[in-house]
Amino acid sequence: MEKVFSMNAGDGDSSYAQNSSFLQKNVLLKAKPSLEESIRSWETTFECDTLCIADLGCSSGPNTLFVTQIITSEIGEKYAHKGIRVPEFQILYNDLPSTDFNALFKLLLAAPPAERSYLVAGVPGSFHNRLFPSRSLHFIHSSNSLHWLSRVPPEIEDKNSKCWNKGRIFISEKGPPEVGDAYFAQYQKDFNMFLRARAKEVVEGGRMFLVFGSRPSADKRQYTWASFSWEDLGFAIKDLVSQGIIEEERLDSFNLPAYQVSEDELRSEVHKEGSFTIVGLEIIIGSSSMDKYDDNEKGKLFSKQMRAVLESLISYHFGEKVVDAIFNRYAEIFTANIIQNEEYMKQATRIAVTLERNDST
Ligand SMILES: C[S@@+](CC[C@H](N)C(=O)[O-])C[C@H]1O[C@@H](n2cnc3c(N)ncnc32)[C@H](O)[C@@H]1O
Repeated sequence: MEKVFSMNAGDGDSSYAQNSSFLQKNVLLKAKPSLEESIRSWETTFECDTLCIADLGCSSGPNTLFVTQIITSEIGEKYAHKGIRVPEFQILYNDLPSTDFNALFKLLLAAPPAERSYLVAGVPGSFHNRLFPSRSLHFIHSSNSLHWLSRVPPEIEDKNSKCWNKGRIFISEKGPPEVGDAYFAQYQKDFNMFLRARAKEVVEGGRMFLVFGSRPSADKRQYTWASFSWEDLGFAIKDLVSQGIIEEERLDSFNLPAYQVSEDELRSEVHKEGSFTIVGLEIIIGSSSMDKYDDNEKGKLFSKQMRAVLESLISYHFGEKVVDAIFNRYAEIFTANIIQNEEYMKQATRIAVTLERNDST
């Protein structure tokens, strides 16, 4: 993941910047009231010259700018309201090293310096590890990112394991139940590392606002919007296997490194690690509507959005030459299953959670 994964770079037709206004921006719009509340309800006001804010898994595109503006204006208003001098904002943008940080900085710095109320820096690396100096951060934001794992659980690609996920690329209602358990075990390791790293970096009383894909049911295998639509992607790859374009072994050794946690699982992991307290949690339901498009356009649109996110992984594993064929077939399958896909999209859930750093004494 750390070496390969990145959203499509630049601002061209296939970039994440051009293909994140539909699914991910919709999540940000729905999470905005919770983000604002997370800042308004924050009792601690740090009287410091510089307030350090990090955006983890920031990627590159207008969504990043949108979030920075909400955070800086909410915190600024809060200080002004209390009659305290507004500190300088240092925004630290984190993502994996292959991210197009240059495109992000061009976008962020497009406005003249006098109109910018913050200073920026990039911090490449995995949020599953340490990224920032000890006790240096006051506020952390992360959107549409924390469902990504550091790796695929190895046992699901092991032919001799009960968890072998043959012919599939993610947890499925029709696959072995052990696959969901293996993904959850990997999530527990990763999220614990995430919390332990942030516990060192966030000052006492500092907050994190995190929004990520989740699942409403305790049953790890029950279809969600993500697992159903990713199963369609698996079917697209399988079709190319049956046409002899992709080797079967390539499909059997490919799985998506993500996990959609349930609310109970999340609460239990935060409680177990112990450095943070959940001070707010909202379940955001539903995804963007595609009503204005016909069924073929819906398939193409959705496939393009997915490609902007997954192309780096697909291309690395299956080779650049088959990427067009996979995503073209995916668009057709998505359209063929449009009724179920739209139903799952309506029921899609994300968790928006606010965590506060406990006293470390
Ligand atoms: C869908 S994008 C979200 C971008 C932006 N926050 C938004 O809401 O539009 C997910 C981002 O998470 C990043 N990501 C995934 N795993 C990560 C990790 N371990 N450390 C840092 N970033 C990671 C990806 O590289 C990607 O840029």
